[in-house]
Amino acid sequence: MNAPAHATHATHATAGVGDTAGARVVTDALDTTHGAVLYLDDITVSFDGFKALNKLTLDIDVGELRCVIGPNGAGKTTMMDVITGKTRPDNGQVFFGQTIDLTRLSEAQIAHAGIGRKFQKPTVFEHHTVFENLELAMKADKRVRQSLFARLSSEQRDRIAEMLRQIRLTDSADREAGLLSHGQKQWLEIGMLLMQEPKLLLLDEPVAGMSDDETERTAELFLSLAGKHSLVVVEHDMAFVEIIARKVTVLHEGSVLAEGKMSDVQNDQRVIEVYLGR
Ligand SMILES: Nc1ncnc2c1ncn2[C@@H]1O[C@H](COP(=O)(O)OP(=O)(O)OP(=O)(O)O)[C@@H](O)[C@H]1O
Ligand SMILES: [Mg+2]
Repeated sequence: MNAPAHATHATHATAGVGDTAGARVVTDALDTTHGAVLYLDDITVSFDGFKALNKLTLDIDVGELRCVIGPNGAGKTTMMDVITGKTRPDNGQVFFGQTIDLTRLSEAQIAHAGIGRKFQKPTVFEHHTVFENLELAMKADKRVRQSLFARLSSEQRDRIAEMLRQIRLTDSADREAGLLSHGQKQWLEIGMLLMQEPKLLLLDEPVAGMSDDETERTAELFLSLAGKHSLVVVEHDMAFVEIIARKVTVLHEGSVLAEGKMSDVQNDQRVIEVYLGR
């Protein structure tokens, strides 16, 4: 997962524009002049001839909270794999802002460019405290050149305190992360991603396995992040999607089946047939 040293260097050292494997990488100033943070254009991904994504075209606006729903196997996770560079499309383009062609960057370069991804299973440092987890995430941010052993500045402490408040873990700051509930671990991992100030955050089934109460709190958290961050949330929990939904995209067989307000897609006969009516 680590970028080769020269690649990391190329995207970082020029503090703006670098040339990496022929791709122009703008790390700090993402060009979103046309309002979109992400464009997928005509993306096809085949696995042994089976098209997991089939001419998928989709764009996400800056500050948007987009929900992506659809039946098992629709291609939702594959879409995230393409955005994060884990899977290369056979065809099509993926642009981050106006200028960054993600298909030409490594997974590490994509993360560094400002795309954070939350997988379903929480991955926190179980034997470190909640506070330390956030501290480590902050110091792992390659834009901040700081040793893991350096003392925190008061400004950094404030950032962590603010994040603890946002993810509702202030009272658990000194607990070992391994002792948290499943939902709390998920919030902590989201907090760790946020410490790196991603421009786009991808969340794959974030409330799976959460209690109803935790799910409700997660909805509040996401609503509080919308506008400040661009979020793409994949989820099967329709009660959750109904609370947070702004614009909803329904994927089916690797393409967009429907897109629009939750109430519109819920009443779309095709969506009812392939997904919601089951
Ligand atoms: N690495 C792979 N090799 C072969 N087939 C794959 C691979 N990854 C995904 N697929 C197939 O591509 C299709 C889309 O899978 P994907 O995981 O993207 O669906 P999904 O919409 O995330 O489904 P779910 O809601 O169940 O998570 C499925 O038929 C899956 O079996
Ligand atoms: Mg999936």
